Amino acid sequence: MRTLIFDTDIGVDDAFALAYAARTQHLLGITTVFGNVPVGQAVKNARLFCGKMAIEAEVYRGCSRPLAPSAPAALHGQDGLGDAFENEYSDRAPGAVQFIIDSVRAQPHQITLVAIGPLTNIATAINQAPDIIPLVKELVIMGGAFGTDGHSGNVTPFSEFNIWKDPHAADQVLTSALKVVVIPLDVTHKVLISGEEVQRLNQPVLSAICRPYLAYSLAKEGFSGMALHDTLAVAWLTLPQAFTLTDSPLRVITEGIACGQTVRKLSALASRQDPFAGLPAQRVALGVDADAVRAHFFATLTAP
Ligand code: BDR
Ligand code: CA
Repeated sequence: MRTLIFDTDIGVDDAFALAYAARTQHLLGITTVFGNVPVGQAVKNARLFCGKMAIEAEVYRGCSRPLAPSAPAALHGQDGLGDAFENEYSDRAPGAVQFIIDSVRAQPHQITLVAIGPLTNIATAINQAPDIIPLVKELVIMGGAFGTDGHSGNVTPFSEFNIWKDPHAADQVLTSALKVVVIPLDVTHKVLISGEEVQRLNQPVLSAICRPYLAYSLAKEGFSGMALHDTLAVAWLTLPQAFTLTDSPLRVITEGIACGQTVRKLSALASRQDPFAGLPAQRVALGVDADAVRAHFFATLTAP
């Protein structure tokens, strides 16, 4: 069991991941960030979801905008949690970035950061306090797309949502000396849950929040279901043997038509300019045993 700071722009799949993390890890705190919803709504959503699911964790308020400007999107309902519940919770909360910095300093080499939204809080924390970089046990990111088996972007043909929302933050984080594991669309698109399976989890809150998401996928793709995306970042902690990783320096394209694209160093051929020169190798998951992850997720969520 790891001690986690769970960094989220909490929408529907984030909520599934949080339910899974709460049952498998020790949650030190939930830090919120803009992304699927504005950050104030993310604070309210995290509190609402924790209240409904009896998850005990303090919620912190993080960054409200990317390091440099970008654009909006919505699939998780207006409120990010399927518009399923009235939400009277406050959007005021202590600062997420300071919480990350203080926690990592207080527990060096003990804290795993799980980041399943834009990387703005993490980038801001390491900009403000670079001394924490070697003290973080590990940073697990759901984000990016490297084109394995045709799994490219989900916002643009090149770019995955979390990275595209703040490509500058992502480039800083991926090129830093943090020990990063990236869980991209290459693997998250392979681990699906159908509407029927959601019902079988027998978790009324999860069923309620994913209703619009499932209706959208049925209308658009003729399949009522969704990728478990953010849950895969937690699954890396519970079932690392289910993932195939490759090591490579990584970058993010921060402008132009491919803005938000994640790229890895593929060739050892000498080039005149090397955007990867001197960068540490990060770990990227390009393969997953989807059945193993699904089975563990179902068993965990249906356990009494
Ligand atoms: C990611 O985008 C968000 O909408 C999901 O919550 C997930 O973190 C998938 O690209
Ligand atoms: Ca997310």
